Amino acid sequence: MSLIQFQAVSKSYPIYSSPSDRLKELLTFNRRKFHQDFWALRDVSFEVPRGQTFCIVGENGSGKSTLLQIVAGILAPTSGSASVNGRVSALLELGSGFNPEFSGRDNVYLNAAILGFSSAQIDRVYRQIEEFAEIGDFINQPVKTYSSGMVVRLAFAVAIHVDPEILIVDEALAVGDIYFRQRCLRKVHEMRARGVTILFVSHAAGDVKALGDRTMWLDKGRVRELGNTDMVVSKYLAAMVEKDTGYLELKHRDPVDRNGPVHAPEVVTEIPNIDHRYGDRRAEIIGIAVLDPYGRKLPLLEPHSDIVVRISVRANASLQMPNVGFMLRNHLGVDFAGTNTTREDIELPPMEEGDVYTLDFHLEVPDLYPASFSFSPAIADGTLMNYQMCDWIDNAVSLQMAPGNGQVYGYMHLPCKVEVNARLDDNRKVAEAQLG
Ligand SMILES: Nc1ncnc2c1ncn2[C@@H]1O[C@H](COP(=O)(O)OP(=O)(O)O)[C@@H](O)[C@H]1O
Ligand SMILES: [Mg+2]
Repeated sequence: MSLIQFQAVSKSYPIYSSPSDRLKELLTFNRRKFHQDFWALRDVSFEVPRGQTFCIVGENGSGKSTLLQIVAGILAPTSGSASVNGRVSALLELGSGFNPEFSGRDNVYLNAAILGFSSAQIDRVYRQIEEFAEIGDFINQPVKTYSSGMVVRLAFAVAIHVDPEILIVDEALAVGDIYFRQRCLRKVHEMRARGVTILFVSHAAGDVKALGDRTMWLDKGRVRELGNTDMVVSKYLAAMVEKDTGYLELKHRDPVDRNGPVHAPEVVTEIPNIDHRYGDRRAEIIGIAVLDPYGRKLPLLEPHSDIVVRISVRANASLQMPNVGFMLRNHLGVDFAGTNTTREDIELPPMEEGDVYTLDFHLEVPDLYPASFSFSPAIADGTLMNYQMCDWIDNAVSLQMAPGNGQVYGYMHLPCKVEVNARLDDNRKVAEAQLG
């Protein structure tokens, strides 16, 4: 028997073009309609048998979270039927499930109770939850004082320790540091091996391929593909790359005037985007920009071009060993490459409150496949092995990668020279010596 069964499920949200429309609708006792229906899911059917890991991929806004919320019983379908038979433990997108005014500890008890655990049962797993979350004394503080990364740690710890029959994981693992992410993934694999039924949404194609028994691709609320994971993920990735090449026109827009005057502000004070942010804030990122060598903002990344990633930071307290860097993430949310001052053998002097540093990272853009890439800047205090994160911002700048001269197989084109019928240098010298 299938634990989860969706039959022609559709879900619409009302969209009001202004708040007053909502009021007008109320005043006419809903006899007149002042809204439009936005269909987040259209005619979605699938089944997940017991013990299977079912993955969902799709672009932002394709309806993945809406679908998971229906499985979790938080939303009801507008039409169609959704049946779920089993105890569900859901790790949904940030902010859901916890009461911000209560302490972490109280929230653990509250959450586990909602999932059907008795106090005695929770007592037995509480220490494990606390240990897995690794948030230290914060467990006794109200959840509203937590960073987004801490919320996810605790939510994940609860979700996996309440012995669910169905585990739902919605992209939440993209938040927080890579070590915690890997620890969580190991747990998901363990639960999979134990026969827990899993619904997994992720932008990381590698994670999906490693976990998914079957995969569904949602496209604007509709099922585009459903079946074997490798097949679905390959088709999805191919479609994404094709779509991204549409951005090519950007390349010819706004040409850079290399003879013009140079305006290169030393300190950058703009953060174009903040998806998630965490850290103890003893120091903060105050700006990030991706520039050409003349200090001008780049509209596009081009293979083999020289770029400058400029990051400005300010200390709010003293930092012994400041380390500033960034992570380059690809359009699937995979951490692709990154570096920082310590890694580049630059020892930054200790910072005092009010100090502002601006770091320029000069790099040559590799021949990456043409998709969108984002830069996530960070400042930490400590060594590479032992540090405290002061400020981390997910996806602060996103830039489109322009296609190079040829096809890129995989993530990047290997810097490579090919010789045909060549001999190794030593052989050649031997050969020349013999000829000579
Ligand atoms: N409460 C809501 N009210 C109106 N529109 C919503 C609501 N929640 C989600 N949507 C819209 O529904 C679509 C699907 O959203 P979502 O399920 O979050 O997609 P995904 O998780 O794949 O990014 C998006 O266009 C989103 O803007
Ligand atoms: Mg979502």
